[in-house]
Amino acid sequence: MSGASESRIESLYAQRFPKSAELYLRAKTLFPSGVTHDARYLKPFPIYANDASGSRKTSVEGHEIIDYWMGHGALLLGHSHPAIVEAVQKQAVNSTHPGACHELELAWGEHVQQLVPSAERIRFTNSGTEATLMALRVARLVTGKSKVIKFAGHFHGWHDSLIPGSDPPHDSGYATPGVTDGVSADIVFVPPNDLAAAAAAIDRHDPACILHEGNGTHWGIVPARAEFLRGLRELTERKGIIFILDEVITGFRVHPNCFQGHCGIVPDMTTLAKVLAGGLPGGCLAGRADLMEALAFDNPYGQKMKHPGTYNANPLSAAAGVAALDLVATGDPSRRANEYAASLRRALNQVFAEKSSRLVAYGDFSAIKIHPEFEGAHSQVDDVIPFDGDWRKLDRKFDGRLSHAFRCALLLGGVDWFGWGGSTSVAHTDADLSKTAEAFANAIDLLREDGFNI
Ligand SMILES: Cc1ncc(COP(=O)(O)O)c(C=O)c1O
Repeated sequence: MSGASESRIESLYAQRFPKSAELYLRAKTLFPSGVTHDARYLKPFPIYANDASGSRKTSVEGHEIIDYWMGHGALLLGHSHPAIVEAVQKQAVNSTHPGACHELELAWGEHVQQLVPSAERIRFTNSGTEATLMALRVARLVTGKSKVIKFAGHFHGWHDSLIPGSDPPHDSGYATPGVTDGVSADIVFVPPNDLAAAAAAIDRHDPACILHEGNGTHWGIVPARAEFLRGLRELTERKGIIFILDEVITGFRVHPNCFQGHCGIVPDMTTLAKVLAGGLPGGCLAGRADLMEALAFDNPYGQKMKHPGTYNANPLSAAAGVAALDLVATGDPSRRANEYAASLRRALNQVFAEKSSRLVAYGDFSAIKIHPEFEGAHSQVDDVIPFDGDWRKLDRKFDGRLSHAFRCALLLGGVDWFGWGGSTSVAHTDADLSKTAEAFANAIDLLREDGFNI
């Protein structure tokens, strides 16, 4: 930013969202930095929204905002889809927690089994973080080995065993505050999309398993394509290493049969959440029956992995999940969300080219990634990856002031963008698309007025 004394974006933002500013004062006395999820932190303050429907949420000031957070990726069907609302309302009256096995968990599990190629057996959890925690422990119990190979930048939730190495910078080690050196020492990092590095790491470290995040780094910042996944499946099979595909965000979103269905592979275990539970809290581990036996009583391993959890297979989440997966199975939601995202990526690149901007849009399926330091020509061919896919250039930290100003500038134009990325849903419309493109064009003007080189 230049030496401009007052940010025009911040003052317009404060004028447009006064009630959110007031609520944030209360929030700061309750929550560290005033937020309940790191990604919701925004300077000078985040917006507050109590209501949402379809592709839009409404700020407490009454402003309708086109939403690209989509429940952190969970809302493939859009906000408050009637089928989900009806299923949850009906179930809330029946029972919110029978403290017993119940029929809806069977229906939910059967839907997963039918849709996910690798799901011979399933165990429900409360989140994606819990699902990857479970996957890792199962792999360690079954193999008796401790090391895990993960790809640098891939995100698998926030527990100690997998959070290291989830974010850039990637050149100064992955010491993670609060995670012990002992836990970190069990993680082996390899560059994304590098099969040779994965093969060498397997030979050198003899790991319990290797994890891959769906279609790559944080929902595709560094996209991983089907060919690479097929290579990784072949490699792990040949070397006898458990291959865990983390489909917490790609699961049911990119394709009814998840990313593995799109790639035509069957991993040994799969982690799922988000769309799985129709936008309510829930996750699961699904995988080969012999591996999942680790969770069974009297199993062949002679020791059982303990797995309690008060809300496992919660009936409200099960009801929402069944309703969502019924619709997912038609193939219509993922197809429409993917198509909308492709159109929006093209429209945004057109705006960026017209404005000679350093912003570029790219991504696969229903993800749209924005990179703010692009120097080349904007392509109208949708599957071009900027910087020829160089992962260190794609996955890097950007100027924090720009990141905050960018989101605020878009909110002024009625668009809520999830950091430098966005997810689409079946509820987004052509009108949303043109309004979003306009909001980006205006945001570029505002950011330039505030001195950003964008
Ligand atoms: C690929 C992936 N794995 C794991 C997680 C963690 O899931 P949760 O936020 O439900 O704990 C996420 C969340 O965004 C994710 O995208």
